[in-house]
Amino acid sequence: MTDLSQKPVDDLTSDEAEAELARLAKAIAAADIAYHQKDAPEITDAEYDALRRRNDAIELAFPDLVRADSPGLSVGAPPAEGFAKVRHAVPMLSLAKAYTDEDVVDFLERGKRFFQKDEDLELAFTAEPKIDGLSASLLYENGVFVRGATRGDGAVGEDITANLRTIKDIPEKLAGSGWPSSIEIRGEVYMTYAEFQALKARSAASGGQDYVNPRNTAAGSLRQKDAAVTASRNLKFFAYAWGATTQDPAPTQFEAVQKFAEWGFKISPLMVRAKSVDELIAHYKLIEEQRSSLGYDIDGVVYKVDQLELQRRWGFVTGEPRWAIAHKFPAEQATTVVRGIDIQVGRTGTLAPVARLDPVSVGGVTVVNVTLHNEDYIAGKDSNGLPIREGKDIRIGDTVIIQRAGDVIPQIVDVVIDKRPAGAQPYRMPDTCPVCGSPATREINEKTGKEDSRRRCTGELICPAQAVETLKHFVSRGALDIEGFGAENIELFFSKGLVKTAADIFTLHERRPAVQQALAEKREEQARIREAASGRTRKNVRSVEDRNYEGLDKLLAAIEARREPELDRFIFALGIRHIGETTGAVLARTFGTVEELIRIGKEIASAEDPHSVFPSVDGIGGTVIEALVDFFGNERNDAALNALLSQVHPKPYIVNVSADSVVAGKTVVFTGSLEKMSRSEAKAMAERLGAKVAGSVSAKTDILVAGPGAGSKLKSAEALGVEVITEAEWFERVGK
Ligand code: IVH
Repeated sequence: MTDLSQKPVDDLTSDEAEAELARLAKAIAAADIAYHQKDAPEITDAEYDALRRRNDAIELAFPDLVRADSPGLSVGAPPAEGFAKVRHAVPMLSLAKAYTDEDVVDFLERGKRFFQKDEDLELAFTAEPKIDGLSASLLYENGVFVRGATRGDGAVGEDITANLRTIKDIPEKLAGSGWPSSIEIRGEVYMTYAEFQALKARSAASGGQDYVNPRNTAAGSLRQKDAAVTASRNLKFFAYAWGATTQDPAPTQFEAVQKFAEWGFKISPLMVRAKSVDELIAHYKLIEEQRSSLGYDIDGVVYKVDQLELQRRWGFVTGEPRWAIAHKFPAEQATTVVRGIDIQVGRTGTLAPVARLDPVSVGGVTVVNVTLHNEDYIAGKDSNGLPIREGKDIRIGDTVIIQRAGDVIPQIVDVVIDKRPAGAQPYRMPDTCPVCGSPATREINEKTGKEDSRRRCTGELICPAQAVETLKHFVSRGALDIEGFGAENIELFFSKGLVKTAADIFTLHERRPAVQQALAEKREEQARIREAASGRTRKNVRSVEDRNYEGLDKLLAAIEARREPELDRFIFALGIRHIGETTGAVLARTFGTVEELIRIGKEIASAEDPHSVFPSVDGIGGTVIEALVDFFGNERNDAALNALLSQVHPKPYIVNVSADSVVAGKTVVFTGSLEKMSRSEAKAMAERLGAKVAGSVSAKTDILVAGPGAGSKLKSAEALGVEVITEAEWFERVGK
């Protein structure tokens, strides 16, 4: 049987075309929902575009078969439940796409044809990067930001005002003058690579979720119910368009966007005006060259007719302006072969399958392995059981297409089934840990009732892989941060049996000769490798050994220096799931000493309802309480903690209450998103200054510190006549 989806449109019979249109409608709808509502695309943009192109081509060839639910009639997906709906007075449009230089020539030709009667006319265009983020529409009334919405399906979006207010690039009040009394500024919310990597690192350090790419992470960050979470993500915004307005910002696109900059928005520094295809394509090439150094994802260049008058005359087709086009960058792809699938065991025991590939260059980077996420992903299913890569599974020996878009980690986007070796078997994820042999299971997520997509080794500290990763975490920067003692030392000492647990680090001096030996051997080996690489031989072997002694003394001294770590670092260092640096600090502040934390931990671990026993603490939710229950309920952790505490003595967390501060004795409430500090930090600071921090506003409240996005608490404070100040005013008052 031939695969209908591969059959050229011209060869389709009417029945086949009908079947194809049904398949495409379903696939596009599923992809729209995954992309717009779940922020978790399952197919690449190129695949999505291919589906839409095929749908359009079949509809063109068989116009009487166009379905009532044709994907051609809609863009995107209706908004997800949860946020208030906003109907866009001027729809938020999508853009037609150009994939080749010819497509750009065609675009300009269409323009010339459209305006041919107007002989004096000189068509001009703007060219600017197409930012790979989420579009948002920001309504300014009399220069004040009053409401912000997502694009949604183009006609109706979601009201995410509170979250947008946390974005520093979005001014609360327009600067300058001459803005229309009402205008919707439109542009792209995005996340930089640096922010994305930092978030990933923070999450990995606390055993939290994995983030796939900056765009989806930005989308997820904008959909947060708690604006403080959005604020912590440091999203950015570029203004490039506008919706409903009482007055055109300027006569041309270019000038309008320059005005946005005067009004306080960030605009792309790579926007230019151009007149010919050659100029447009030259700018496309320039942007493409700079793409990898921008620090954020872009996926093409947008060309727009410059003169607004001509934009209006040229007009729209369904969902798209005729006067603009997105010239997409080709996704960087390469073909290679999967030689094996390795399993890496993480600190929290997650088994991460990694494909080992024949080295292949994708966009200037040599790729030798790619993550395969989990067993469902390998089998061609996403976490909801829906197909990815059209349901094709990945097998050892398979020829695969690797894609690298921007800074996003490379991924396998397709499997060339025709090249699959005879006898290649579906991959079976091990159900025991490849390192320690303990059962590796898929937990049921208590909240969702769904099976976790990742398998986890149940061996915990008896698992060498988990043990070594736990140790690396223990000495890492946010944790004990022992100077000169990092992941490499851990690998070395662990492999030589010199350090098995965190407590062993502090008894290393007792094994000094063996440590000395291990370090010397390591240096020898490194020197040999260097020599082999350079072809030179060493002249003075002794000096290397002399340096070893000195290095070892320093290392042991650095360890001694950390015998009394700060409590927050110590708690974070324990590597309890879901307890990152911030939560570690909240716990330290709440319980004051490690003994008290252990006491509470044991109490909740043996309680029938841990939640009712655990004190109500701002910033500590159910997930953390359950993680504490798991940790303190495990006897092995008990023993390890006792051994560790016989070596190190975390300092009690001292809250310096200063009775003479201006806020001493006052009851303070924080609301809205804070820019300079987290809520828990704000609370700790106020408490240090002798204030009492309350969670809600009442007649007893003295001061409400209100950040952007403040809602009901602000209203109550105003009603009760409570003094309301901004975060900046708070800092002024407390003299920070
Ligand atoms: S203009 C009327 N300019 O691309 C034209 N869009 O495919 C409206 N996008 O939903 C869009 N960078 O999210 C425009 N410089 C740019 C853009 C841009 C990214 C996104 C935007 C839009 C999508 C359309």
